[in-house]
Amino acid sequence: MGGAGGERISRLKGRVEIIRSDYGGEQTLAGKSPFVVVANRLPVDEVTDDTPAARMSGGRRWRPSPGGLVTALHPVLVEHKGTWIGWSGTAGDAPEPFEMDGITLVPMALSDDEVERYYEGQSNATIWPLYHDAVEPPVFRRRWRDAYREVNRRYAEAAAEVAAYRATVWVQDYQLQLVPAMLRELRPDLRIGFFLHIPFPPIELFMQLPQRTEVLRGLLGADLVGFQQRLAAQNFLRLARHLLGTPYSGSTLEYEGRKVKAEAFPISIDVAEMQRLADNPLVRERAAQIRAELGDPKTVILGVDRLDYTKGIEHRLKAFRELLGEGRLSVPEAVMVQVATPSRERVEHYQALRVKVEREVGRINGDFGRVGVPAVHYLHQSYSRSELAALYCAADVMMVTPLRDGMNLVAKEYVAARAEHGGALVLSEFAGAAGELRQAFLCNPHDLDGVKDALIRAVNVDPAEARRRMGIMQRHLRRHDVAAWASDFLRSLGDLDDH
Ligand code: ADP
Ligand code: F6P
Repeated sequence: MGGAGGERISRLKGRVEIIRSDYGGEQTLAGKSPFVVVANRLPVDEVTDDTPAARMSGGRRWRPSPGGLVTALHPVLVEHKGTWIGWSGTAGDAPEPFEMDGITLVPMALSDDEVERYYEGQSNATIWPLYHDAVEPPVFRRRWRDAYREVNRRYAEAAAEVAAYRATVWVQDYQLQLVPAMLRELRPDLRIGFFLHIPFPPIELFMQLPQRTEVLRGLLGADLVGFQQRLAAQNFLRLARHLLGTPYSGSTLEYEGRKVKAEAFPISIDVAEMQRLADNPLVRERAAQIRAELGDPKTVILGVDRLDYTKGIEHRLKAFRELLGEGRLSVPEAVMVQVATPSRERVEHYQALRVKVEREVGRINGDFGRVGVPAVHYLHQSYSRSELAALYCAADVMMVTPLRDGMNLVAKEYVAARAEHGGALVLSEFAGAAGELRQAFLCNPHDLDGVKDALIRAVNVDPAEARRRMGIMQRHLRRHDVAAWASDFLRSLGDLDDH
């Protein structure tokens, strides 16, 4: 974590120590954390367990929660023995802080009303669509903005409470864009990083946001604002100049007498973990079983996404349907498996999407399936990491066709899981991952004919060529895994000279 603050804290770790801080008063450092992650969610979900044994122990059980952010940060936190502040995923009171796998977890409470206004409303019906090119129209509501501000303030206060003197606090993602400025006000001694996992829109889209100045100032509270892509960092720098007249040179802004850096840090995955899983004989066996259960088709085409309208699920289903209709693909030689993880199920756009996707799946199966041989196997469920790895191993072609995506970790997971076995990735140009995985079969998801051609090229690729492409992408990923991402970010945060 670099810097004088970090060194001092690690020497003090484990002892009660009183120091005089820059921010007024004296602080007890015992039990405070030198490294804090603040994210909307904890890396676990609370699950209801009604068994008698669970009732006796308070009925609280936890399981890992899905999503790119959790997948990306878990190994980093274990290594740094950090504290993670976030929501348990259930409305109501928050459980007491607890330890899991070497991480201290500090659950935040969200009331029913806050889940509706801060999480489903402002985060996922306003900001999420706006930042994803407004592929669905963003909804603007004043009462959602108030809840967003209120919840961001509570997260900032929780971070101020648990962070050690001059600790590093790393705030994550679009749900918490006001936290950096709020936290800086409470604790100017802290080194604050912010990373946005989703795209950052161009000025003309961002300007639609009624809370635009507040959000921008919120982000500028950080020392380092990280983005998935260079273009996003540039959008941010230009926006700051446009909206606040903040000058910048290179990637550094001058804001209220401080330097704020805005740079790209493309996120990655735990490549070694995925390779280990894919090499596991049990996973291999399961992959063979999946293929057998699918009727041993020549080509298994796979999609794995949260059921989200940014992911282009309908576009790829439509491409598959048209290829079947034209006889360029046929069942049972080719089958598609579409895993669509349940997500944000009370938000209207998501409900509408589910109806559309399920209607399309039904239509394809109605037109092209046979008794016992559906054309599309549609799974609206969450899976374990090993089951996902088995699916990746079983798939000849992986389709990742978002209309807009910050990165898309599924694309990287598929590549990591393929080892020497080839396989082909059809990848949208509008996924951040397309900037790195250049040997994928790239396509524009809005161009249906282009998607169909990319899919056909992927299905028919010569096995040696497929292995060559996979090999190049795997070598890239091995050098750019999630640990490299986190250490690049933290090094850059630690390097800032004016702290
Ligand atoms: P997003 O962050 O928008 O959900 P990503 O593709 O970047 O999209 O990350 C999704 C993560 O969630 C991946 O790590 C993937 O393995 C995981 N995931 C996706 N679908 C499932 C599922 N059905 N069960 C368990 N994990 C899933
Ligand atoms: O990657 C974007 C993101 O919103 C993450 O912050 C989150 O972990 C994931 O997608 C899943 O979303 P949610 O937490 O809303 O289920």
